[in-house]
Amino acid sequence: MHPIVAIENLKQHVGSTVTMRGWLADKSSKGKLHFLKFRDGTGFVQAVVFKGDVGEGFFDEVGRLGQESSLVLHGVVKSDERAPGGVEVSVVGGEILQKVEGFPITPKEHGPDFLLSNRHLWLRSRRQWAILRIRDCVAKAIRDFYEQEGFICVDSPIFTPAACEGTSTLFEVDYFDEEKAYLTQSGQLYAEASAMAFGKVYCFGPTFRAEKSKTRRHLTEFWMLEPEIAYATLDDVMQHAEDLLCFVVKRVLERRRVELATLERDVAKLEAIVPPFPRLSYDDAHALIEKHAPGQHEHGDDFGAPDETIISNQYQKPVMVHRYPHEVKAFYMKRDPHDARKALCVDVLAPEGIGEIIGGSQREEDLDVLRGRIAEHKLPEEAFSWYLDLRRYGSVPHGGFGLGLERTVAWICGIEHVREASAYPRMMYRIYP
Ligand code: 4AD
Ligand code: MG
Repeated sequence: MHPIVAIENLKQHVGSTVTMRGWLADKSSKGKLHFLKFRDGTGFVQAVVFKGDVGEGFFDEVGRLGQESSLVLHGVVKSDERAPGGVEVSVVGGEILQKVEGFPITPKEHGPDFLLSNRHLWLRSRRQWAILRIRDCVAKAIRDFYEQEGFICVDSPIFTPAACEGTSTLFEVDYFDEEKAYLTQSGQLYAEASAMAFGKVYCFGPTFRAEKSKTRRHLTEFWMLEPEIAYATLDDVMQHAEDLLCFVVKRVLERRRVELATLERDVAKLEAIVPPFPRLSYDDAHALIEKHAPGQHEHGDDFGAPDETIISNQYQKPVMVHRYPHEVKAFYMKRDPHDARKALCVDVLAPEGIGEIIGGSQREEDLDVLRGRIAEHKLPEEAFSWYLDLRRYGSVPHGGFGLGLERTVAWICGIEHVREASAYPRMMYRIYP
């Protein structure tokens, strides 16, 4: 009996004989040698099978194994500087659990539709493995950051009676006795209530948008982190976003080097993510676009993807664009006391084309003003009566933001499309598998 060791920990066992339990990712052979690409979920390693070490029977059986056959291998761990994990294994024996033929996803190129239809199997390939391990690291970093900063996690509900981010992207569900409910677009309104009870809070969970867009940035189900802070101003919110993003990127650089290398990510670009981030008003952002693409952006409109690309291309760090015209933003945002046409809001645009990863604001804390906004936005006041209570009983300035997990992971990984940052992405035309 040898100790069972995970591939990611093999380095600590150089010189000893270990057992690995996993799957065959790929294989090549030369004379009396098989070179197995072996994976166990924690990593990939080359396992060399020499006929003289394992005997003819096992050697021949391994030679006939197809991709994704499941097997247990015993072998001696050897240091190998050229290997990605720094080690390789000389196999001394093993047991085959299942011989597989015809695994649909081969090392050759496949189209995105085929891969997405086989997402349950595609997850096993090296790039997807790397991306989703980085996602896990980002999610853990977020929770650690909030623990360190003294925040309390208070989760918001998924079934809600009202819209938070406009009525056009609501998923409606039947909720007993002819009542309608919606899948939440954002946990923010509840996070505001939680902040009045606990001071500094966050919620972190799935949110839903019936987005009829097929862009590389949109999912219909995605995860959002939403901190909400009592007594925070817009400046506090921006500072907080900067602190969080720097913490998260640093953590990924510390713990996910192998995965970043697998993705061929230019880590110098991530190492450059240090404070301070550029801060730019909406008006200045508009002027910047005018300079690079005259006439592309109409002053007063929201920024489209091409506009965001021009803005973010000017910087090597995430850029914070603040104070948009209130017409293009949500009802709950406080207006700028120095310019009533503007909302006290911020969008954080990631570098390298992924666009907005964070949207946030200072919230309107005055009861009557907020009521007026609900009416202006043609939202039903009854549904918000609990929310208005927050302005009746101990109202204080406060603010927060929402960070889209998949967009953040896509940016950190340097991948084109947010769908690969979700294990089982939900999009307008895809709900299988
Ligand atoms: O800017 P949004 O709509 O902000 C809110 O929902 C606020 N209520 C958050 C808050 O202040 N607590 O969304 C926040 C972020 C976006 O910046 C983006 O990263 C992500 O959520 N996001 C999406 N990600 C993937 N697919 C979609 N369809 C997304 N819509 C928004
Ligand atoms: Mg937004």
